Amino acid sequence: MRIDVVSAVPKILEGPLTESILKRAQSKKLARIVVHDLRDFAEGKYRHVDDKPFGGGAGMLLKPEPFFKCLNGLLKERTYDEVIYLTPQGVTFSQKRANVLSLKDNIILICGHYKGIDQRVIDRFVTMELSIGNYVITGGETAALVVIDAVVRLIPGVLGDSESALTDSFQTETGFDSPAYTRPAEYEGLKVPEVLLGGNHKEIARWRGKMGSKKYKRVKKKKLN
Ligand code: ADE
Repeated sequence: MRIDVVSAVPKILEGPLTESILKRAQSKKLARIVVHDLRDFAEGKYRHVDDKPFGGGAGMLLKPEPFFKCLNGLLKERTYDEVIYLTPQGVTFSQKRANVLSLKDNIILICGHYKGIDQRVIDRFVTMELSIGNYVITGGETAALVVIDAVVRLIPGVLGDSESALTDSFQTETGFDSPAYTRPAEYEGLKVPEVLLGGNHKEIARWRGKMGSKKYKRVKKKKLN
């Protein structure tokens, strides 16, 4: 899978894309993640990528020209399954959407910054507007990282134990992972549940299912919108 990310602040993406699972996915050539610095497509001495909005109002908008140049270049090279703009106004990202996106060959993620991007970029290129939740963050970069992480870990072979993505919270029927423990079996008077120490795998599976759904129901009840 190839993911192209277009950003005015690409430095935000650097660390997370070059560590842990995302690093491994790329070195195993299971994912290719290419970051494009919007400034490289900007004109003029100062390579401005933002400007004041027509009609007034607070904040700056990302200009259309650098996006058009960058995106037209990419679309000339290959076909993309989705061109996604990260915005709080988009449809909400979920495990289901991550599953669907993980089956795509090529996607583009467009990160807004400041007050957003010129509407003409959306009108011309964007096939999906995606939000990571009902709150506003400074830029689309952090949202893009959330999407990339959730999607790339689902690509077969990325995780060492292919089972573990399938048993992740939200992938199971009951919704959540069960509580997990490691050694020591007792710490500061806090004991690991007896069933996990017994080695009866049927019983352990039953217990995990029960605890996962219990946690799911408890959290769901408390959830605020
Ligand atoms: N940009 C700013 N806030 C965002 C959000 N909640 N989701 C996606 N992109 C964003």
